[in-house]
Amino acid sequence: MRVILICATTIDGFIAKDSNEITRWTKDLALFKKQTRGCTVIVGSKTYKTIQNELKDRNIIVINRNSDPNTILNKLKETEDKCFIAGGGKTNSKFYKYITDLYLTPHPLIFGDGVGLFDKTKIELNIKLKKAIKVKGSDNLYQYQYIVTNKQNTEIPLIIEDLICGFSNNT
Ligand SMILES: NC(=O)c1ccc[n+]([C@@H]2O[C@H](COP(=O)([O-])OP(=O)(O)OC[C@H]3O[C@@H](n4cnc5c(N)ncnc54)[C@H](OP(=O)(O)O)[C@@H]3O)[C@@H](O)[C@H]2O)c1
Repeated sequence: MRVILICATTIDGFIAKDSNEITRWTKDLALFKKQTRGCTVIVGSKTYKTIQNELKDRNIIVINRNSDPNTILNKLKETEDKCFIAGGGKTNSKFYKYITDLYLTPHPLIFGDGVGLFDKTKIELNIKLKKAIKVKGSDNLYQYQYIVTNKQNTEIPLIIEDLICGFSNNT
């Protein structure tokens, strides 16, 4: 099963100014909705409070500090071939060992501080760019789609797809 982390970030790697921020600066919501519609989306309790209205038509799993990622993903992989991890930073950190893909949209902003993509956790992932998609209706925003290439720790098997590097206007 592909476990896809999907997030809008600043250039310096933040996803929000603080844990309670409703992130109105993101310009890729339509793409997020298109890509996740009909899929399972895993979010942390803080994120759910900030974007629950945007998450209709998806199977939403809201996690808390006691949730076990391995249990959740093992159950999901019985019926799904992919799912999305959609923040926030604490949730991304909790699931990082299982992530197979990252869909990141860097925005031309610098916060200097806030909630990091992987909040306050030391993480090392080797990733490879697979594709970059222009975010429709935006001024030169791209969603960069990476695959994770070091998967020693994961208990979910990784399906490595053929690598296609380059830019595309397709979603
Ligand atoms: N830019 C983007 O694309 C994007 C995407 C998603 C979210 N965000 C933003 O990210 C922010 C939220 O991120 P976040 O990292 O603060 O929250 P989060 O990951 O959404 O939720 C916090 C999670 O961490 C758990 N937790 C809290 N304290 C903990 C502790 N001491 N030990 C272990 N687990 C703990 C919570 O469980 P409990 O419920 O048990 O406390 C919950 O599961 C919001 O501003 C949201 O808008 C941005």
